[in-house]
Amino acid sequence: MKPIISPSLLSANFNELAKEIEMINQSEADWFHLDIMDGIFVPNISFGFPIISHVKKLAKKPLDVHLMIVEPDKYISEFKKVGADILVVHYEACTHLHRTVQSIKLEGMQAGVSLNPHTSVDLLEDILPDLDLVLLMSVNPGFGGQEFIENTYSKIEKLRAMSNKKNPNLIIEIDGGVDASNTKRLIDKGANALVAGSFVFKSENPTKMISDLKNVNF
Ligand code: DX5
Ligand code: ZN
Repeated sequence: MKPIISPSLLSANFNELAKEIEMINQSEADWFHLDIMDGIFVPNISFGFPIISHVKKLAKKPLDVHLMIVEPDKYISEFKKVGADILVVHYEACTHLHRTVQSIKLEGMQAGVSLNPHTSVDLLEDILPDLDLVLLMSVNPGFGGQEFIENTYSKIEKLRAMSNKKNPNLIIEIDGGVDASNTKRLIDKGANALVAGSFVFKSENPTKMISDLKNVNF
């Protein structure tokens, strides 16, 4: 199976946002990845509800919304209203993760949990059957364009072994420093969704970069 490709708009040209969205619509990408940062959970602030609504109007593919915010429970229904299809919260930001995941599902969205590079996949054992997706951060969250952390490979392997027992349909998404050089190994270890920001948008030919990620194993 080819991986799901989710280009991160964080690295897009916001002066030409409509054009960038149309490029993704026309490409082999599967989702739009939207990074929401609050300046508290991560040392950066990105964008919020008005931009998501705007993207939703133009996007012809699902919105994969990655919340790097504290207290995500406060805003779950608002993210649904503005068009999120997949809502991903951070393990490190949720005291009552089970409740948060159930609230996301009750709103009719797919539920994902993200782990920072230092957080062990073992901690997901009891919540795994309830999840649609796990997003493994392969950089420290907050910024695009950082270097891929090699330890991610063994986390993927371990998580895929857990999911084979507890949730075979789990999507394992990798976010941070993904490019054509590591894609094959990520997929071989068990990842099936890839986020890419700078690799796609800093290129002369973003459509081709998306295609390269999509087809690297085939
Ligand atoms: C980082 C974000 C990523 C970011 C990835 O905190 O979660 O989605 O946009 O950017 P690249 O692909 O440039 O590492
Ligand atoms: Zn992200």
